[in-house]
Parts: sequence; C-alpha cells; structure tokens
Amino acid sequence: MILYGGGDHALGLWEIIQLLGLPFEGFFDDGSPPFALPEDFYLGPYDPTLKPESPLLIAITDNTIRRNLSLRVKHPIAPPLIHPHAYVSASASVGKGSVILPGAVVHSRARIGIHVIINSGVVVEHFVQVGNYTHLSSRSVAGCRSEIGESCFIGTGSIVAPHAKVGEGCVIGAGSLVLREMPPFTKAWGVPARPQSELFKE
Ligand SMILES: CC(C)(COP(=O)(O)OP(=O)(O)OC[C@H]1O[C@@H](n2cnc3c(N)ncnc32)[C@H](O)[C@@H]1OP(=O)(O)O)[C@@H](O)C(=O)NCCC(=O)NCCS
Repeated sequence: MILYGGGDHALGLWEIIQLLGLPFEGFFDDGSPPFALPEDFYLGPYDPTLKPESPLLIAITDNTIRRNLSLRVKHPIAPPLIHPHAYVSASASVGKGSVILPGAVVHSRARIGIHVIINSGVVVEHFVQVGNYTHLSSRSVAGCRSEIGESCFIGTGSIVAPHAKVGEGCVIGAGSLVLREMPPFTKAWGVPARPQSELFKE
C-alpha cells in the first residue's frame, strides 16, 4: 500500500495500515517537508513508474484535490481502509479509495461512494447514500435514508436529519442541522442550517 499525501490525515491512515498489518511501501507528496509521516517512507512527488503495482490511497482531506488526483493517478486504487474499531454492516457497500476511521458506524444497506472519508465517530444510518469524494467530519451523523451528494463537506458534529438531502458540492458548517434539503453547491450552517453563500464547481 502507498499513501498519496504525507500530512496529518495520512498519519492516521498509516497507523490503521500498521494496526491491520498491511504492507506499507511509502508515501508520495508533491509538497515539501516537514511531513507528519516519518521521512524514511518518503518516495518523492507522485511518480507513476514507482512501485506501479502497489495499491494507492489518496490521503488528502480536500475533496477537490482528492478527486482530481484520483483521476490522474496510474496506480491501482486501494480497497476501502477500515479501522478495526469501526463497525461496517455486512450489507453496506463502501467504494475503493474510501476510509472509515475509528469509532465510525456504517449501518445496513448504506452506500458509500469512492474516495469518501468517514471520519472518527461518524454515524451513517440505514440506507444512507454518500456520494463520491465526500468528507463526513468527526462525530457527524447521517440519519437513516438521507442522501449526501458528491464532493460534500459535512462539518464536525453536524446532523443530516433522516430522509434529508444534501446536494452535490455543499459545505455544511460545524455543528449544523440539515433538516430537509440543501441545494447543490451551497455553503450553509446553523440549526437549522441556512444557506449562506453559493459555491462554484471546482
Ligand atoms: C462553514 C465554514 C466552512 C465557514 O467558513 P467561512 O466561510 O470561512 O466562514 P467564517 O469563518 O468567515 O465565518 C463567517 C461568520 O459565520 C459564522 N460561522 C461560521 N461557521 C459557523 C458555524 N459552523 N456555525 C455557526 N456560525 C458559523 C462565524 O462565526 C462568522 O460570524 P461573524 O461574521 O459574526 O464573525 C466553517 O466555519 C466551518 O464550520 N468549518 C467546519 C470545520 C470542520 O468541521 N472541520 C472538521 C475537520 S475534521
């Protein structure tokens, strides 16, 4: 396994890789040191010819960067990385390149897309759909049968109520409550969450 990104998020993923006893071959990072990961593992900027057979996980929390890199990389994308202290129902599906961090719960028939981050302590209830490249921050909750579109950022501690819908590309501020529907590309916060501004694709 190779990580793409050597920052704080990568450090958490590396520790999961160690806990699971998976082989770790190093990390790419297009930036410059210092990195959060030990520099002994630094492979340099992304190089498609280096260990080309190794599964790669993009360890970058910015949804847009994660998506753009995922479309460019040549390495095979790693299967989902799931912390041993997370619960993922056998009837849930989780896409490749996604990560599920400690204490998270993904209930029955939930569908998690590719390159999604389900952060620490997140609860994804029954039949929830989470789009590709979305990030559910720590302790957020997606109520049963809610739908969260692609490339959304759901701030820490936020609640998406049961059956609510969050459109593509939304940013929901920390501690918010999305009660019914949030239009695509909206930045919103509050209880209940009110749109604050429009966002643009990319
Ligand atoms: C929603 C968010 C992205 C908005 O960022 P922003 O557009 O830069 O907004 P600002 O920080 O300039 O704040 C603008 C105003 O909105 C208020 N505000 C911002 N986020 C808020 C929130 N989540 N709830 C209530 N008020 C909020 C600020 O207090 C500020 O009010 P003021 O003008 O009276 O001082 C950010 O505030 C946020 O909540 N980020 C989530 C962080 C997070 O959960 N990280 C998890 C890492 S795992």
